[in-house]
Amino acid sequence: MDKLLVSGGRPLVGEARISGAKNAALPIMCAALLTEQALKLDNVPRLMDVRTMAKILALMGVEVGSQDDGRLELRAREIKDPTAGYELVKTMRAAVLVLGPLLARCGRAKVSLPGGCGIGARPVDQHIKGLQAMGAKIDIEHGYMNAIAKRLKGTRIVMDVVTVTGTENLMLAATLAEGATLLENAAREPEVVDLAHCLTAMGARIQGAGTDTIRVEGVRSLSGAQHRVMPDRIETGTYLAAVAAAGGKVRLSGAAPDTVGATVEKLVEAGARVALGADSIEIEMEARPRAVSLTTAPYPGFATDMQAQCMALDSIAAGTGTITETIFENRFMHALELQRLGADISIQGNTAVVKGVERLQGAKVMATDLRASASLVVAGLVAQGETLIDRIYHLDRGYEGLEKKLSALGARIARVR
Ligand code: UD1
Repeated sequence: MDKLLVSGGRPLVGEARISGAKNAALPIMCAALLTEQALKLDNVPRLMDVRTMAKILALMGVEVGSQDDGRLELRAREIKDPTAGYELVKTMRAAVLVLGPLLARCGRAKVSLPGGCGIGARPVDQHIKGLQAMGAKIDIEHGYMNAIAKRLKGTRIVMDVVTVTGTENLMLAATLAEGATLLENAAREPEVVDLAHCLTAMGARIQGAGTDTIRVEGVRSLSGAQHRVMPDRIETGTYLAAVAAAGGKVRLSGAAPDTVGATVEKLVEAGARVALGADSIEIEMEARPRAVSLTTAPYPGFATDMQAQCMALDSIAAGTGTITETIFENRFMHALELQRLGADISIQGNTAVVKGVERLQGAKVMATDLRASASLVVAGLVAQGETLIDRIYHLDRGYEGLEKKLSALGARIARVR
């Protein structure tokens, strides 16, 4: 199995291009289920999760074009089998996003329950509850959600927790429902907005995406459309954190600076100089970072998906930072691996207290989830000697060409067997 070998100690210098956002591409691919016509996408990242979603759609009978230079065409002329099986859903929880659109288009769906994952329980009760409020009948049998509905009916849904994919699933379903759906306490993440843009281009009537109240006026049918997937704000944040930790000067192009505010604020607090352009970000870091404290929160708060990378930064910062995780109950797995590199971290409940050390030392470590893997790369870039990161299939789920992009910035990083 592939591993990543990182030799630390070099600053990062140059330019890197940001890829399309995984977390926007996945729900947008599911929008293809809502129409017989072709959905033509641009800026789709080449990632394992995108391939998994393509496989799930293809098994339902969706025509999936080959991914060429960021372009991907999907056409659900006919949905032969509205099923998403356990083998694929268990590798990628976002697969549950097919549930809403399948119900809306076919009136039935069979989707495996995703189960737990490394970072916590991650239930889908809000997805189910919302669809039931719209008139769906959903039975859980043998680990599957069996859902049927005549035509979904618009209604007012107040979500108990802010859930990103939950909001997206219900928004997808509501586009073809009878009447208006009001989603309250909706997620405000930029990926929800990008999905709304794509659906609107397909003929959906959506207002309020990006606020906590989204109104969807159902229509009879949707058409094909062309849509460019937004830039990946977590990939952007990861490179920014890497530069803040390793030092150097980097320009990130093809980015969406207005979506990374909370991360940039923390990196500036750590001592980085950051300049935002229209679609680019420049970061420069000369000195040792200062420790920062942060608490994760739904957007526009500090993203839970950036928490691990900032813990790596705090590990080598001057001073002590506290990191509080409020979204997932078990998202500190990376702390144990960072400790193997010499980090001084103590966990108290959902807070990690990170005392910066002068230097980390390279060691063998294991990636436990996608963003944890990214934090180990950031740490490896500053650690003395070699860091060997095992289980990097996690990284391949969410970072396009990570080692290529970092090598081009001067890092010593290679994929080894
Ligand atoms: C999405 C992102 C993921 C990110 C997360 C939080 C995608 C594909 N993935 O995941 O990268 O880390 O948002 O920003 O976009 N919850 C419930 N019931 C539900 C649904 C969620 O209790 O039905 C809880 C979860 O357990 C968690 C919180 O709500 O504590 C937020 O989860 P959610 O926003 O749903 O995360 P995802 O959409 O799965």
